[in-house]
Amino acid sequence: MEDLYRPELVKLWQWVEGRARNVLEAAGFQELRTPVVEDASLFERSVGEHTDIVEKEMYTLEDRNGKRLALRPEGTASVVRAFVEHFTSHNIQEGRFYYLGPMYRYERPQKGRYRQFYQIGTEIFGSDHPLVDAELISLGHKIFQELGLDDQVKLQLNSLGSHACRDKYRDALKDYLSKVEKNFSEEARERLKRNPLRILDSKEAAVQESLEQAPSILEFLSDEAKTHFEEVQWGLKELEIPFEVNPRIVRGLDYYEKTVFEWIAPGLGAQNAVAAGGRYNDLVKDLGGPELPAVGFALGMERLVSLIPPERLGRDPTPRVYLVPLDAEANRELFFQLGELRQAGALVMLDLEGNSLKSKMRRAAKWNADWAIILGPEERAKKVVVFRNMKESSQEEIPADELLSRLLSKFPTKSFIL
Ligand code: HAM
Repeated sequence: MEDLYRPELVKLWQWVEGRARNVLEAAGFQELRTPVVEDASLFERSVGEHTDIVEKEMYTLEDRNGKRLALRPEGTASVVRAFVEHFTSHNIQEGRFYYLGPMYRYERPQKGRYRQFYQIGTEIFGSDHPLVDAELISLGHKIFQELGLDDQVKLQLNSLGSHACRDKYRDALKDYLSKVEKNFSEEARERLKRNPLRILDSKEAAVQESLEQAPSILEFLSDEAKTHFEEVQWGLKELEIPFEVNPRIVRGLDYYEKTVFEWIAPGLGAQNAVAAGGRYNDLVKDLGGPELPAVGFALGMERLVSLIPPERLGRDPTPRVYLVPLDAEANRELFFQLGELRQAGALVMLDLEGNSLKSKMRRAAKWNADWAIILGPEERAKKVVVFRNMKESSQEEIPADELLSRLLSKFPTKSFIL
C-alpha cells in the first residue's frame, strides 16, 4: 500500500480522474460511492468462492458483533448491491454508474501490483445488446485517447459464452489436460482441479506449451453467444477500435459470461493489464435483484498513471503570487487582500514568518512564484507596493490601490493543461 504524496503525481492522478469523469459523464454515467467494507459473503457470492481473490486475497475481519466483513477486493459486487438496494427496489431497471476508489487484495506485491490499488470502474445495467458492449469498450478506448495512451495499449477480446457453454468447455479442457497434467507443477494441478479455466492464465511454460493444442472456448459457443460476439466485433470495427480476439482470456472473477476483454500495455512488464471487464448477466439476480443483464470494466489507476510521463502535464498555468509583508501592519493589510486576489484566479501565498526580506524572497523563489508583492513601512508611506516579476528579476512600484487590477492584467488566460 502506498502513499500518494509527490505533488506532480498527485496532480497527474487528479488529471487522469478528471479526464475519465468527463468521458463517462458525457455518456450518461453517474458516480456512485459505496463503502469500502461490505459483508464478506457479497464477494463470495459474486466474485466466486473458488477464485484466488476470495480464497487467498481478501482482507476479512469481524466487527464487534461477530459480523464477517471484507475490504472490497473489487467494485462490481458493491455497485450491484447498491443498485439493487436503491434502484431496482424502486422499479428502476437500468442505470449507468462509475466509481473511483481503493480496492484491497492480499496479493504478492511486485511492480504494478499493490495490496491497495485504485480503480476507476464503470457498470451498465439493463441491456444485453452487444452494441452496448461495444459502446462501453469505446468509452474505455476514448479514455485512453484522452490520456494520449491509445498507442500504448492493446485491446484483447474474448467470449466465454453462456454459463452452459462454459461448463461444456470446462469439461472438454479438463479432459484434454488430464492427459498432460503430469508435467505441471503442483500449483498448476491444484488450479486445474479447483478452477480449471484459470489454467489458461498460467504463466508456467509446461502449461503454456500444452495449451497450444487445447480446445478453444470459441468452439463451444452457442449460436446466440456466437452472434452476440460477432455483433460486438462489428461494432468495434465500425468505430475503428483496434482489437485482437484472444480465446485465452478467461478473467479471474466468476460472474462473467459472453463478452470479456482486457487492455494490455506491453510496456508494463509482468502486470500488464491496465483495464479489464466483461458482461455479467446473472449477477443482479444472484445478488437478490431482478433478472437484469449488465456489463462493465475497471481501469487500474497505478498502472494507468505509470504509463504517463509527468512532463506531459506541463506547468499549471495559474499565476503564483507571493505576498511579502515586512512589518506587523503589512501582515494585516496583505492578509486582508488574500481572498480577493484568490477570487481573481491567482494562487496566492502569504508569508507571515519573520520580517527578513531576504529569507522571504528565498521562500518565494522556492515556491516558484511568478510575482512577489512587497509591502513595508517605506512603501506604506508612499501608498505603493513593490511589484516584482520573479522570473525576469525586475520590479516596479505601483499605487497600492491598483494592485488587483495590475495583477489581473498580468494573468495569462487560463489554458487547459496538455
Ligand atoms: P480485475 O481484472 O480484477 O477486474 O481488475 C481490473 C484492473 O484493476 C486490472 O486490469 C488492473 O489494472 C487493476 N488491478 C487489479 N489488481 C491490482 C493490483 N493488485 N494492483 C494494481 N492494480 C490492480 C475487476 O476488478 C472487475 N470488477 C472489473 C469489472 C467491472 N468487470 C465488470 N465491471
